[in-house]
Parts: sequence; structure tokens; C-alpha cells
Amino acid sequence: MSKRILVTGGFGFIGGHLLELLLRDRGVHVHVVDNLSTSPIPLEVLLLELGQPPNLSYDICTIEDFCRNQARTAEYEEIYHLASPVGPAGILKLAGRMIKTIVDDAYLLMDLAMRSHAKLLDISTSEVYGGGQNGYCSENLPKIVPAKTTVRLEYAIGKLAAETAIINTCQVTSLKASIARPFNVSGPRQSGQGGFVLPRFVSLAMSQKPLTIFGDGQQVRAFTHVKDISDGIVKVMQRGQNGEAYNLGNPQSKISIIDMAKRVVGLIDSHSRIDFVDPKTIYGPLYEEANDKYPDADKAMNELGWNPTQGIDSTIRETYEYMARATPEIFMRLSGEALVDQASQRGQTPIG
Ligand SMILES: NC(=O)c1ccc[n+]([C@@H]2O[C@H](COP(=O)([O-])OP(=O)(O)OC[C@H]3O[C@@H](n4cnc5c(N)ncnc54)[C@H](O)[C@@H]3O)[C@@H](O)[C@H]2O)c1
Repeated sequence: MSKRILVTGGFGFIGGHLLELLLRDRGVHVHVVDNLSTSPIPLEVLLLELGQPPNLSYDICTIEDFCRNQARTAEYEEIYHLASPVGPAGILKLAGRMIKTIVDDAYLLMDLAMRSHAKLLDISTSEVYGGGQNGYCSENLPKIVPAKTTVRLEYAIGKLAAETAIINTCQVTSLKASIARPFNVSGPRQSGQGGFVLPRFVSLAMSQKPLTIFGDGQQVRAFTHVKDISDGIVKVMQRGQNGEAYNLGNPQSKISIIDMAKRVVGLIDSHSRIDFVDPKTIYGPLYEEANDKYPDADKAMNELGWNPTQGIDSTIRETYEYMARATPEIFMRLSGEALVDQASQRGQTPIG
């Protein structure tokens, strides 16, 4: 009998890489539930890239529909919960409804996990730290709620509320669960549509357009390769303590946005200049730029044996190489900008 694994949001950016990792084991059967609302590339293209694995099945629907209908009789041993509103710009359209969506979905999956006797892995976010201590985010630090009520905060509070509910449910029921908190995940297949910075910078540099920096560019991030994050997620599932949360971010990749922009331009050998803009002029008045944030990853490294192996340059290079191979339609989806013309001029071949 194959080990049965459920992945929510499996056709998203991180989900696609997690599937690649899980499906290497022919002894597992992976079922995905995804409504394709923010999947970065079309499903048929992703399935081609994954090699049409025979041990993969899926339902295209919301978590709510899945848990209320299809999942009634299903049994899983592991549940990876990735589906969520996501992205600094992508979340804006869900203002006012986001906490409910995130928390409701967490309860549905806790219920399914308990009925299945499955371990639940909840993907949270580094945003739960607010600004941490001048950007430094460790699991031991308090989660500070600032005196404001932005949409970005609604996302962070929803994720923290879901985490807290899951951890406390582990204390008082048979639920087995762990939490992963990724930091600025980047790499091939990420889309700039939700406002993510690296695919935006890479596509602008490829088309020789100015890279648009939000604010003064001194914001600090720790961009972590999606393959390292996927490896960390599997380790949290396999080795994470019940009711514990683990940062997943590469402290070695700490960099300011302005330095990241210069790195992108240099590595791609682009002639793009760098401009400074107010992001509200692009995404509207609800947009908020994140505080500095970089991880203390000692807990995942020491307790789980997690070791991120990719640096910033390889993350930029692989993001670029993937976009350079993309069809014009996919390039446009990934860039978050209407750059079909440039892609056409490059005469690209399809990915897959
Ligand atoms: N990308 C990052 O830098 C980052 C950082 C920290 C945390 N995360 C978390 O990682 C997870 C995955 O993020 P991602 O970057 O891969 O985003 P993504 O948008 O590429 O993937 C999310 C997937 O979930 C699906 N989905 C969304 N809502 C759904 C619903 N209600 N029912 C069914 N499917 C639904 C979408 O169609 C998409 O395929 C999210 O929980 C996100 O909060 C991401």
C-alpha cells in the first residue's frame, strides 16, 4: 500500500517544488487540492514539467468544498497545508475576509487530519513576527502586533491565529501537527503577479526596463531558494516536534532590496537602470511594504538537520533561466507585467 499524502495548494509556486520532491518516492500517492486561483503556471504545463507522474491525483476546488464533499471518506497519513491567500499585492483583494479564510481552512484540515490520523504540516509565514527585533526573527521572540490595521497585518494575524489554534489543539486532542514559517521564498516558477520582488526584477532586467524599488531599497530580506524551502518543509513533517513551529529561511542570504536589484542587473548583464517609486502608485493605497526580516534558523538546522544549500546568485540565475525558457504567455504570467512583446522577440520555446 502506498503512503497517502494530501497537499493543499500543491499547484502553487512552493507546492510544485514540494510535489517534485515528494513524488520522487514511488511508494507514495500524492493527492492535490487546489482551486488554481493563484497558480503561477497553467496546470497542464506544470504536469508536463513534473513528468506526468502516475502517483499524483487531484481535485480542482476550494479546500472548503474538498473537505465538505470529496474528503469525507478519504484517509491520509500526511497533510501538507499550503493553500492560502499570498503575496503583498495578491492579498489586497481579500481585505476583511482573509483572517476568516485562513482560520476556517485550518480548522477544516485539523478535522480531516484527526479523522485520518494524519500528521498536519501547516505552512505559516515569517510575517507573524511583525518586524522581529530590527528584522531579526527567532522562534523565541514575542510576536509584536503594531498599532495599525493594514491588510498585510490581516494576513499575518490570520496565519498566527491558525498557528495558535493548531498548536493548542495538539495539546488537548489527538492532533499531530507542526508549523513551518518560510522567509522570502524565491526561485523558478515564482510569479510577480502577487507582488513578489525577484520575478518582477528579473523580468524587468530581461526587458531592459527600469527596476522599480519600493521606498529607499534599504529593506532587508533573506531570499531562500524554493528547493531548500521544500526540503525544509518535508523535514518539518518528518522530524518536527508535535505542536512546534520552525523558521525556514537562509540567514546567509541576507541582503537589502537595493543590493538585490544591483545583483540581478549584474548577473543578467542587463542595461536596466534602477528607479525608486512609491508602491501605492502601482498597487493602490492598501499596499504596505514589509519591515526588515531575516531568520534565526538554528532550530530547524539543529533539530531537523536542515541545511539550505543555495545562495542568492543561484536563486537569481535559476529564476532567470526559467523565465528565459518560458513561452510568451507564461513569461507574462510570471513577470506580473505585460512583456509579451519582448518574450516574442526572443523566439522562445515552451517549458516542459
Ligand atoms: N512565497 C513566499 O515567499 C512565502 C513566504 C512565506 C509563506 N508562504 C506561504 O506558503 C504557501 C504557498 O505560497 P506560494 O508562494 O506557493 O503561493 P501560490 O499562490 O503560488 O500557491 C498557493 C496555491 O494555493 C491555491 N489556493 C489558494 N487558496 C485556495 C483555496 N481556498 N482552496 C484551494 N486552493 C487554494 C492557489 O491556487 C495556489 O496554487 C502559502 O501558505 C503562503 O502563505 C509563502
